Amino acid sequence: MKPLIAGNWKMNGLSNAIAEVEALIAKFDGSAPDDRDVLICPPTTLVAQFAAAFSDEAIQIGGQDCHVNVSGAHTGDVSAQMLADVGAAFVIVGHSERRADHAETNELVQAKATAALKAGLTPIICVGETEAERKAGHALDVVGEQLKGSLPETRDEFVIAYEPVWAIGTGLTPTNDDIAEVHAFISGFAPDGVRILYGGSVKPSNAVEILAIKNVDGALVGGASLKADDFYPIVMAAPSN
Ligand code: PGA
Repeated sequence: MKPLIAGNWKMNGLSNAIAEVEALIAKFDGSAPDDRDVLICPPTTLVAQFAAAFSDEAIQIGGQDCHVNVSGAHTGDVSAQMLADVGAAFVIVGHSERRADHAETNELVQAKATAALKAGLTPIICVGETEAERKAGHALDVVGEQLKGSLPETRDEFVIAYEPVWAIGTGLTPTNDDIAEVHAFISGFAPDGVRILYGGSVKPSNAVEILAIKNVDGALVGGASLKADDFYPIVMAAPSN
């Protein structure tokens, strides 16, 4: 499977941040290597600008969330169709920050993933346990419940990201064995061809090791995706298959 290295910029970046993407592409000598997919999910305000600027490069642009409806009276929301219309190819759904900050349920995440597929976007569906759930030995149960509730019912192309909540932005990561265990478990749920990304404190210093773990088909990178100097070595750390 072709690895996917995705950057989740979260609520970071003004229009001048396009310079970081240009710096990344310059490191690739013009376009990203074709043995890996590279994705940047900037804040919604930058999706159209970035997608227009990089439409010819081998770098793709995605959103960080979408509404379940195509249009309507939903002040402040953005539909999957709107993201697709301005050139996005992917959208993250069910990130733990949205599940926590906006009380998103598995049912809502599933509806968002389905809306994304209908709009022609590839959803990246996030799952992951909290620290308390892992300590109690419930990591697989929690991830299993989230998968059952959040994955779309269609067999269209989608991506799953395993992001333990306690590893996001903390510098902590699970052991390689723990990552391997959860990814093997997720691959039992996922239809063939679904890529399973690991996310949570991926850095240049741990990317080679994490991306070499069985059933890890890429990474979802937060903080370390904001600077080309950090993101480039992570992109290049993925083994080519
Ligand atoms: P982090 O975030 O790499 O900053 O830990 C990952 C994510 O939330 O997707």
